[in-house]
Amino acid sequence: MRGESGGGELISFSPIVRADKMSALLMPLPTARKHRRRVVFSRMWAGPSAKNPRVALLLAIESSCDETAVAIVRGEAGERTEVLASEINSQIALHREHGGVVPELASRNHSLHLRGLVEMALRDAGVRIDEIDAFAATTGPGLASSLLIGSTAAKGMACAAQRPFLGINHLEGHLLSPFLAETSVPPHVALIVSGGHTLLLDVEGPGRYRKLGGTRDDAAGEAFDKVGKMLGLPYPGGPEIEKTAGGGNPNAYDFPRSMLHDPHLDFSFSGLKTAVLYTLQKANGKVSIADLSASFQQAVIEILVGKTLRAARESGRQIIALSGGVSLNQALRSAFQDACAKSGHELVTASPDFCTDNAAMIAFAALLRHLAGECSPLGEDIHPNLPLV
Ligand code: KG4
Ligand code: ZN
Repeated sequence: MRGESGGGELISFSPIVRADKMSALLMPLPTARKHRRRVVFSRMWAGPSAKNPRVALLLAIESSCDETAVAIVRGEAGERTEVLASEINSQIALHREHGGVVPELASRNHSLHLRGLVEMALRDAGVRIDEIDAFAATTGPGLASSLLIGSTAAKGMACAAQRPFLGINHLEGHLLSPFLAETSVPPHVALIVSGGHTLLLDVEGPGRYRKLGGTRDDAAGEAFDKVGKMLGLPYPGGPEIEKTAGGGNPNAYDFPRSMLHDPHLDFSFSGLKTAVLYTLQKANGKVSIADLSASFQQAVIEILVGKTLRAARESGRQIIALSGGVSLNQALRSAFQDACAKSGHELVTASPDFCTDNAAMIAFAALLRHLAGECSPLGEDIHPNLPLV
C-alpha cells in the first residue's frame, strides 16, 4: 500500500491502518449487520492502554522460517522499550541433516512449540494474557505454511482477549532492531543483511522507508550458506565460514567485488559464489578451506561496506544501521566500525541477541505502530513475498 509521505517515493508496506479507520476493513461477518460490526469493534479496543494510552504491553510471534519465537515488550512513546521476555525455539539442528530448511518440517515444529513458548514468555515476563494490550505476528515475507501458524495463533489470541492485532513485515522487524534499546528511530541509512534479503534503505522514521538498493540475485546470507555447503561446512554456512575464516588469509584469493564500483546501489553475489566454485574445482581438492573462507568473507565485506558508505554519503545521512543474521559477523562489524570511524558516520548495530530471527524485533515494530494508533484487520492474510518497499 502506498504511504502518505508525499512525492510517491516513501512507501508504506502493508495494509496496516489507523485504528479509527479499521472498521472499514473488517471482513464481513455473515450474520452481523454493518453498523453493529463497527460498534462492536470500536469497543474492543480502548487505545494502547485503557489507563494510559501512551503505554502498551505487546506480545508478538515470529514464525516466518525456521525459528519459532515469542516475545513480550513494554513500551511507552519516547521511552526505551523493555523486552520482558524473548523466547526462541531454533530448528537449525532439525534442518541441518537436510542441508537447508524443509518447509513441511518447519511448520509442524512451529505448531508443536508455539503454545509452550507463549506460556514461557508470559511466565518470564510475569504478566497474565489478559494484561496484554495488543498481539502481533510476522505476516510476510517467509514460508507460507510457517507464517500461517504464527499469524493464526496471534489473531486467535487477539480475538479471544478482544485486543487489536498487528501484522508485521519481517523485514521491518530487522530494520528497526538496532533501535530497540533507543528512545527513538532517527533518520538513517539501513543495511539489512539476512539469509533471504540484502537491502539498502533510506529511513526517515518508523514506516517511512525508501529503497536505495538490493540484491539482483543471491542475498548475502544465502551466498554464505551456499559457499558453506560447497566447502562441506554444516548448515547454516554463515557462522561456520566466519569460524573457518579466522585461521585463513583474506588476500589468498582475489575474488570479484561485483558491482562495487557501478553507479547504482544494487548488489550481486552469484558471481562471487561461482568464482569460489571454480577455484575449488580447479584446485581438485588441494586448497586451504580457511583461505577460501577468509577470501570469500573479505569480498562480501568490502562490497557491503563500500556500497553502504556510498549510500550514506549520497543521501547525506549521518547514521548507518546494520541488521539481520549476517550482521552477527564480527569481521563485518569491525570493517563497518573502521570505515565509519574514518568517514565520521555513526554506526548503530542490532544487539547480537536480536540479529538472527527473533520475536522481540517484531514486537518492537508492532509496538511503534500500536502506539501510533495503527492496527491490522483480523482478516489480514499472510504474504509470502511481502515487499518492505
Ligand atoms: O536474519 P536471519 O536469521 O534470517 C533471515 O531472515 O534470513 O539470517 C540468517 C542468515 C543465514 O544465512 C546465516 O548463514 C547468516 O544469517 N549468518 C551469518 C552469521 N550468522 C548468521 N553470516 C555470516 N556470519 C555470521 N556470523
Ligand atoms: Zn530474518
